[in-house]
Amino acid sequence: MPKLIHVVAFSADHIIGLDGKIPWRLKGDLGRFKKITAGSPMLMGRKTFDSLPGMLPGRAHVMLTRQDLPKTRQTYSVGKSKEVFEIHNTLDEALASPVLANAENVYVIGGGDIYRITHDQTEEFFFTYVPRRILPDAGGVDVASYPTKRNDNLVVLDSEEVHDVNGLSHVYINARRRRAGEQDFETYYEFIEHYAPKRAF
Ligand SMILES: NC(=O)c1ccc[n+]([C@@H]2O[C@H](COP(=O)([O-])OP(=O)(O)OC[C@H]3O[C@@H](n4cnc5c(N)ncnc54)[C@H](OP(=O)(O)O)[C@@H]3O)[C@@H](O)[C@H]2O)c1
Repeated sequence: MPKLIHVVAFSADHIIGLDGKIPWRLKGDLGRFKKITAGSPMLMGRKTFDSLPGMLPGRAHVMLTRQDLPKTRQTYSVGKSKEVFEIHNTLDEALASPVLANAENVYVIGGGDIYRITHDQTEEFFFTYVPRRILPDAGGVDVASYPTKRNDNLVVLDSEEVHDVNGLSHVYINARRRRAGEQDFETYYEFIEHYAPKRAF
């Protein structure tokens, strides 16, 4: 069984997406995402796949959908590399497929639905915390969120406050599940309050 790792950027109000897009642009975070996921397969929901500008070189793309789409394994040329693209109808089916089952690490890259169904079995997390409230007042917007309300015991391995070229400060946090005897943060709220810049709230 591979290790599941979440890579996610979320806001102070737990938002990850609005109307099919990520509601901020952090150039450095895109570079970080590519560096973290390079060489490993990525698991994602259909909407997140649709939001990608194209297949990313150097990593397999595994997409979950409930639609009855052809399940043949496909290989696409991406630049100079050839990348696997697979479609599965359930998480169990995807995790049993050789491309994921034989991997050491599987990076779960969203969106909200897929973070939720994999959360309990995820061991490691690469968070980008954007200390802004994003949720619009107006309704009718398709909102995707990260499940930050669960009582997850996490240990921070590394954290770094960064300032993007566009001036939006954010925090990179690498965390994993607490092991017996380690200090922990009871909830994401305590965890975030401890590590996020207070002035941003
Ligand atoms: N900030 C970040 O780090 C980040 C990361 C990724 C994505 N995003 C944003 O998040 C938004 C997308 O997230 P989302 O939650 O709306 O969608 P999503 O999780 O990307 O995809 C949802 C789709 O996945 C399929 N699906 C969901 N659960 C399934 C299950 N149990 N079994 C099989 N298939 C399943 C369904 O596809 P079908 O409808 O085809 O059946 C469902 O409509 C976008 O705005 C995107 O830009 C943000």
